[in-house]
Amino acid sequence: MREIISTLIGEKEVEARIQEMADAISAEYAGKQVHLIGILKGSIFFVCELAKRLTIPVTLDFMSVSSYGAGTKSSGIVKISKDLDEPVEGKNVIIVEDILDSGRTLSYVSGIIQDRKPESFKIITLLDKPERRVVPVDIAMTGFEIPDKFVVGYGLDYAQRYRNLPYIGVVEFGEE
Ligand code: IMP
Ligand code: MG
Repeated sequence: MREIISTLIGEKEVEARIQEMADAISAEYAGKQVHLIGILKGSIFFVCELAKRLTIPVTLDFMSVSSYGAGTKSSGIVKISKDLDEPVEGKNVIIVEDILDSGRTLSYVSGIIQDRKPESFKIITLLDKPERRVVPVDIAMTGFEIPDKFVVGYGLDYAQRYRNLPYIGVVEFGEE
């Protein structure tokens, strides 16, 4: 099978939306410092584009979690393969995620981080597929709600490929 990628959200549109999200966060946390926690690897592009547009002081940390399997469906079993480097206690934490699908990953991660007593806690995601939700997750801000299609680009992969595409694309599987 070969993959065909078609553009769902163009680069300019993604970046304009990230600018709006950054402006909202800078206004909301005015006078404070935020601690962005990116969920690797998918969120790296979003974290970078967001962080460089924030006008308030920012610190960064990363956690790597994986749900088993390399295909297009998440299995529901979540494993931390890299924990945070810094404590979150007393910090204004914003978890930055690439995409919210079943909600299993974020539900698990947010439980762990909230147990570590941050000063405040919020989750933002670039993309959300609301139709796919199995576990409810409290999201403060979403970049784009998208249909139930498998997407790549802007950090998102299919079998580790396509993360470097500067836009969000839909993958279709054609015959060889
Ligand atoms: P959840 O635990 O089902 O919400 O899955 C979230 C994770 O699955 C995301 O952080 C992605 O790594 C991955 N994922 C879900 N949907 C897609 C997609 O359309 N493209 C690429 N990765 C996806
Ligand atoms: Mg992810």
